[in-house]
Parts: sequence; C-alpha cells; structure tokens
Amino acid sequence: MTPAARAQAAIEILDVILDGAPAEAALIRWSRSSRFAGSGDRAAVRDLVFAALRRRRSLGALGGSATGRGLILGLLRAAGTPPDELFTGHGHAPAPLTVAEREGGRDPTPAEALDLPDWVAQRLAAELGPDLPVVAEALRHRAPVWLRINAARTDASQAAGMLSRDGIETQPATQCPTALRVTAGERGLQSSRAFRDGLVELQDLAPQIACAAVPLAPGATVLDYCAGGGGKALALAARGASVTAWDASPARMRDLPARARRTGATINRAPDRGPDGRYDVVLTDVPCSGSGTWRRTPDAKWRLSAEQLDSFPATQLQIMENAAQYLRPGGRLVYMTCSLFAAENQGVISRFLSAHQRFALESSLSQRPGAGEASPDGFFHAILRDLTGG
Ligand SMILES: C[S@@+](CC[C@H](N)C(=O)[O-])C[C@H]1O[C@@H](n2cnc3c(N)ncnc32)[C@H](O)[C@@H]1O
Repeated sequence: MTPAARAQAAIEILDVILDGAPAEAALIRWSRSSRFAGSGDRAAVRDLVFAALRRRRSLGALGGSATGRGLILGLLRAAGTPPDELFTGHGHAPAPLTVAEREGGRDPTPAEALDLPDWVAQRLAAELGPDLPVVAEALRHRAPVWLRINAARTDASQAAGMLSRDGIETQPATQCPTALRVTAGERGLQSSRAFRDGLVELQDLAPQIACAAVPLAPGATVLDYCAGGGGKALALAARGASVTAWDASPARMRDLPARARRTGATINRAPDRGPDGRYDVVLTDVPCSGSGTWRRTPDAKWRLSAEQLDSFPATQLQIMENAAQYLRPGGRLVYMTCSLFAAENQGVISRFLSAHQRFALESSLSQRPGAGEASPDGFFHAILRDLTGG
C-alpha cells in the first residue's frame, strides 16, 4: 500500500470508530477484509489510527472536523506535511481537499490541546495540580514497549544479548532490575527466541515496579483474585511465589495456561465457584477506568463517562472485601489499579481502612506517565497488612 492508501484506510477505520465501534474490533475487521495489506501496512495503518485517537480533540480542531478525514488532515498539519501530497484522489488515495477543508482548521484552544474530555481535565487538575499538562501530554503519545525479564530463567544482560541477536535493541530501566525498554526492532518481538522461550514477557514498567514491591517470603502463597490474562500472576510466580489464580470471569484467564507454560511457571487455578483456603498474600488487580493506560487504548479516553468513573469505587471496595476473606492472619492484601484518579486509588484504600481496622497501610505508590520516552503507565498499588496475627 502507498502512504496515501494507508491514510485512506485509516480515515475509513476512524469513521467506524467515531461511530461507536471499539478501535481493536474496527482494526481487526479491516485487516480481515483487506487481504492485500501486508504486516507492514497493517502496523502503519494501526499507528495512524491510534495516533489520531490519542490526539482526537486537537487534531479535530487542526483538521477542521472530528471525522476520519478531519483527524488525518489534522495529523498531517501537526506534522508539517502538506496534505496535498496524500490527498490526491489517485488510486486508493483520499479524495483531494475541498475548498472548505483547505480553508478550515485552526489552532487548538488550550483546553483542546490537552486532548482530554473537559470533565476529565477538571477532575485531574484538582488532583494533579501543575502536573496535569505533563501527564496529559504523555497520554498524547505512543507508550514505550517494556519487557519483563523472567528472573526465574535469565538476567537482564543475558536477555538483552539474546534479543539483540534477533534485531531487538533494549535499554535497562534504572528503577527496576527486571525491566527492559525496547528501543528498536519491536515488530520482531513475538517471533524472537527470547520471547518464544519465555525469557521475556510484555509488561509495562509500572506493574513491574508494583509487583516487585510486594513482600514475598520464600515459598509464599499468593492468591491473584482478579487474575485476568495473568500478567501480575506471572510476575509474582517469577519471584518464586506459589500463585493461585481466580477471576470472576474465568474465560478471561484463557491465555494463562499457555503463557505459564511458555515461561515455565506453575500457576494453580482456583475452582470457578471460588477459591479455598488462606494465603500469605491476596492480590486484587481490580477493574478500573484504565485511565493510566490511555496511551495504549486511546479510544477509551473519549468513551469513559463521569457516571462510569463514579461507579468503580463501590465495585473495587466490594472486591477487596470479598478477597480479604482468603487472607491468612498477618498476611498482606495488595490493591492495584491502572487508574490516574484518586477516587479509584487512595479513595478506595481510605474507605477500606476505615471500615476494617484490623488492616494497616504498609506502603503505596502512584505512578504516572510523564516527560521522557521511558515513563511508566499510570498505576497505583497499596499494600495492606492484616494486624491480627503472624
Ligand atoms: C484489571 S483486570 C486484571 C488484569 C490481570 N491481573 C493482568 O495482570 O493481566 C481486572 C479483572 O478483574 C476481574 N473482575 C471483575 N469483577 C470481579 C470480581 N467481582 N471479583 C473478581 N474479579 C473480578 C475481571 O474479569 C478482570 O479480569
């Protein structure tokens, strides 16, 4: 596909997403119906679509309309690329610009330039204060690709050497010994030997830091009560914990057995009806707004409503309460979200602590995307200790 044909494909996919379809589903449908598109084309179209969605508001202003054409036009104007180079009407290229398109478009207002819904900007401004523009700016750009090295099998320099032999260049993180940031060759990752042999896993820096902070005595037992795809379960198993996975929607754990096999980890599955027994650590990686990962799921940034956000804390608190029954006396209850909003983070923890005085807060950390190419996703964790024993 020519660059112009890729732009036209992105325009059509964006229109489907702007009509309400989830971005991933719209991209998959386009890939399936576009056999002519090679893997490079699919990746390039995806990059265009995601770049446009991350900056949907400001690009709509620059491009003159919040349509697929307007956003791609805005993207070209933002990059300083003359739109007429792609909007030629030849072959599969977008139709030439109309007079209105040529004369339309303006600089975004300061509010539009944040690329957040106004209600989100207002809430985050109250919480982040002067950090809001830095966080909002980070969310306008692609997230870095981070790997977690499987510390049960390798170390960072050996894994980096093996990846490099397959054309994947990485840099270690200063904050976390298991984390490598991919700086080149990421498209070859899934077929690389290090990945296929389970020496590295895809996982953002922030959850790696959070999982590394969980105190684990040798042979500790862990119940991952919201296991989903198993990213946290695998990170804790790699540290030597004996991990049992459960999820209210067991189907969400379908990839976990294959992931565990690849990494050589043993993850026990609790019965679907509910876990049994008591554990040293119970982890609740609860459903949340996902606002900390909006760089990766940019359509979610525009879909979240204030009503949805306000409904999360009650669910999160309930999940913590359900999960706490599986903790042994003296054990640790660990709470995690990938949310930027205090109501889902510190707010839930304060409510839980005031209702359950047998628990004390041992530590907590809010991580946020920020300046620089190595910043983590937004992520919160809190480690609570049961004071009744041990
Ligand atoms: C943020 S995701 C977990 C991601 C996962 N830990 C990982 O690292 O890939 C939240 C999970 O909580 C599960 N969940 C939703 N409601 C729940 C509930 N009431 N009790 C337990 N899990 C629940 C969802 O099915 C979902 O898989």
